[in-house]
Order: sequence, then structure tokens, then C-alpha cells
Amino acid sequence: MANSRIILGIDIGSTKIATVVGETHTTRGLVLRGLRVVPTEAITRGTVRDLNQAAKDIDDCYSGVMYSSGLATDQVYVGITGRDLASINRSAAVEITHPEGEVEAEDVDLVISHSLPQQLPAGQQIVHSMVREFTLDGIRTNRSPVGMIGQRLGVETHVVIGSTSQIANLERALSRVDLAVRSYVFNLISAGEAVLSAEDRNAGCVLIDFGGGTTNVGVFHGGTLCFSRCIPLGGQNFDIDLKQGLGVSFEEAQRLKKSYGKAWIDPDNEELEDFIDIKFYGRREYDKIKRRRIFEIMQPRTEEILEHIIDALNDSGELARIAGGVIIVGGSSQMRQLRRYLQKYLQRPVRVGLPTGIGHLLDEYRTPAFAATLGLLLYGAKHEQTIQNGDNSFVGEVITALQEMWGKLFPTREK
Ligand SMILES: Nc1ncnc2c1ncn2[C@@H]1O[C@H](COP(=O)(O)OP(=O)(O)OP(=O)(O)O)[C@@H](O)[C@H]1O
Ligand SMILES: [Mg+2]
Repeated sequence: MANSRIILGIDIGSTKIATVVGETHTTRGLVLRGLRVVPTEAITRGTVRDLNQAAKDIDDCYSGVMYSSGLATDQVYVGITGRDLASINRSAAVEITHPEGEVEAEDVDLVISHSLPQQLPAGQQIVHSMVREFTLDGIRTNRSPVGMIGQRLGVETHVVIGSTSQIANLERALSRVDLAVRSYVFNLISAGEAVLSAEDRNAGCVLIDFGGGTTNVGVFHGGTLCFSRCIPLGGQNFDIDLKQGLGVSFEEAQRLKKSYGKAWIDPDNEELEDFIDIKFYGRREYDKIKRRRIFEIMQPRTEEILEHIIDALNDSGELARIAGGVIIVGGSSQMRQLRRYLQKYLQRPVRVGLPTGIGHLLDEYRTPAFAATLGLLLYGAKHEQTIQNGDNSFVGEVITALQEMWGKLFPTREK
């Protein structure tokens, strides 16, 4: 259809691969056309462990969604996470050389390129970089400064750095399925697209993605992500703890966690004395244990993750500057009492982030578990618009032109 564009996203999670396809439409906006989830063991915490299996799982997920939607594209936005990702804020400034002091697109490119790290440790590369803010003669602006008059142009950028081999292996798995990476998108940025309101961004807020293998903590300020940390612990750690602590299968551990697990419970609560059914490993019949056992096993892990979150937020140095609350997403954010538990210890309002801004969204996808996945569509739609406008200096937008210009940056293949 004329004036419509297909956006494809693949969220590479620790526990699953999720493929999402949507269409941007001049009248109807962005609509969902398909979503498919395939569990995978070939990728752990964002790193490919088994290339053949990863390619198969990606193919299965991608082909399924393309077939059912009847759409076709091989250009993909790839959502990534992982403990090897680190993020930093950078800044730079240049003098404007135009005789009348007019800022030109080249000045913007130059100041951005100066702000990016020139030398990275061996084995590291830039995965994602975005403009946070421009200053023109000391005056801050979150608009493109091209065409304005000034003497000195400054920029602040946020740069996500990742392991070259992690990215190369992911890219290899994707290329086996003949998929070309349009852009990599850091998980918190895509989740932020889906669940943060303009008010959250303006006030400044904390976004936490509780995934299967990781918990990502981000702070948004001035409209964009300014701090992030990946904690290499997630929902699977509860499953492993329950599996080992109780002597049950992984599946049974998951069932117990989802059915009876709570992030927090009053130690005097009578509920803890209830008996629940449990299937011990190697036994055919169900046995009974007190619910207290589940809580005793899960609680130290919840506390450990909370401590990491508090450390990350303290290290960010941003808490005093942000006025908004905490938004939680990811499959594990659905754990009961987690919202209340965080509210108690972080002393800020906490809400569960539900994805919005996409038409034809079925209720089953309107959950925090799909925030980062659906955010790929929103991110992709915005990104395509920026490319179409030929403007790479929007605040909060990935630095596309420079990624193209610098072969050593991410291989973004434009059509
Ligand atoms: N109702 C629930 N209560 C508790 N945990 C849940 C619930 N539903 C799903 N989970 C957990 O959510 C996790 C998966 O979340 P998600 O899909 O966000 O992970 P992922 O994207 O694959 O991982 P990551 O983001 O760490 O790479 C699993 O550990 C699963 O057990
Ligand atoms: Mg995830």
C-alpha cells in the first residue's frame, strides 16, 4: 500500500526470541500485524551460545510471523540486552565557522563525532548512540540546531558499548536467515518507547526491565536515557534456586514461582502456613509442602536484585534530579507484590508499564512482558521517519548518519 512502511523487530531475549511486525500508515498510524515468540536456549543473557540453533530459532520465529501477516521485509531492528553492554555519557563542543555563525548539518555531525569515544578497549564497539542535548552558546535545546546562529555548538550524547564478538555472533545468526540489521536497539530504549509518557520523560524517571536472565536499570532525564546498568540476574535465577532448593524440575520450579511466588510477604501472614502441591523430581504423585518454603527460597534472591538496583541508582548520581517515579516492565515484573516491594524500598511511586501507541494491539500483548518487543516497532517507525526527513540530529534519535559514515560503528544497512 502506498505511503505505508513495514517495520520488523526481533527482540533477542535470554529466554525467548520475539519477532514483531507492524505497518506505519498515514491515516491509521502504527498498527501491529504480527507477533510471535519462540523460546530459545541457544542465547544466554544476550550472547549466542549455539549458532546453528540460534539461527534456526530466529528463522522459526521470523518465518512464522511473516507467513501469518502476509508481509515481506528482510530489514530488521534488533533488540539487544546483555551484561557486556555498558553505557556512558559524553560531551563535546565545536566553534561555528560559517561567516554569519549559522549552524550547518556538518557542524552537527562534527560535534557528535567528537563526542563519541575515539578509542575503545579491545573487543568493544559502539552499539547504539544518541543525542541527549545540544547547547548553542551555552543555551540548551532539545531541537536540531541546524539553521540557528551561534558561536559555539555543544552536544551531550549517550553511548551504549558492547562486545564485538557478541554482536558479530548475533549478526552471523541473523545473516544465516538472510536478515539485514537496520539498527540495533538497546532494550531499555525500546521498552521506554513503548511505556513512557511525555510526562515521565520530562519529569525524569527510572525504568527497570525485569527479564529472564537480566534486570536492566535505566534512568531517563531530559527526555532521554542518561544512565543504564545491566544486572546479570533475572527470573531464571528464581527458577534455578527453586529447582535446586526443592529438588524439582525446571518446569515445576517455574510453575511454583508463577503460582505461589511473591516478591514480598509479611512474615506473619497466615498464607505462609498453607500447604501447596508439589511434584518432586522423579516422583509421579504430587506431595505437599508449606508455602513458606517457596518464600524462604525466593526472598534472598529478591533482596539481592533489589540491592543491585539500589547500587545502580546510587551510582547513577541522577536520583536527585529526577522527579518522576519508577516504571517496571519485562516478564518478571509480573511477579506478585513486586510493585509494592519496590515502592517500599525505593520510596518512589512504582507502576507497571503497559505498552501503548500501537493500533490493533491484542489484550494478550498489552502486558509489561512485551514492552521491549513492541517498543522496537515504535522505535523503528520513528527512526524511519528521521531517515526520510534526512535529519540525524533529533534529540533522542540514534546517530544514523554517523553510523553509516564510520565503518567501525555499527553496520546499519539502509535500503
Ligand atoms: N507471572 C509471572 N510471575 C513471575 N515471573 C514471570 C511471570 N510471567 C513470566 N515470568 C518470568 O519472566 C521471565 C521472562 O521475561 P522476559 O520475556 O522479559 O525475558 P527475556 O526478554 O527473555 O530476558 P532478558 O530480557 O533478561 O534477556 C521468565 O523468567 C519467566 O519465568
Ligand atoms: Mg527482555
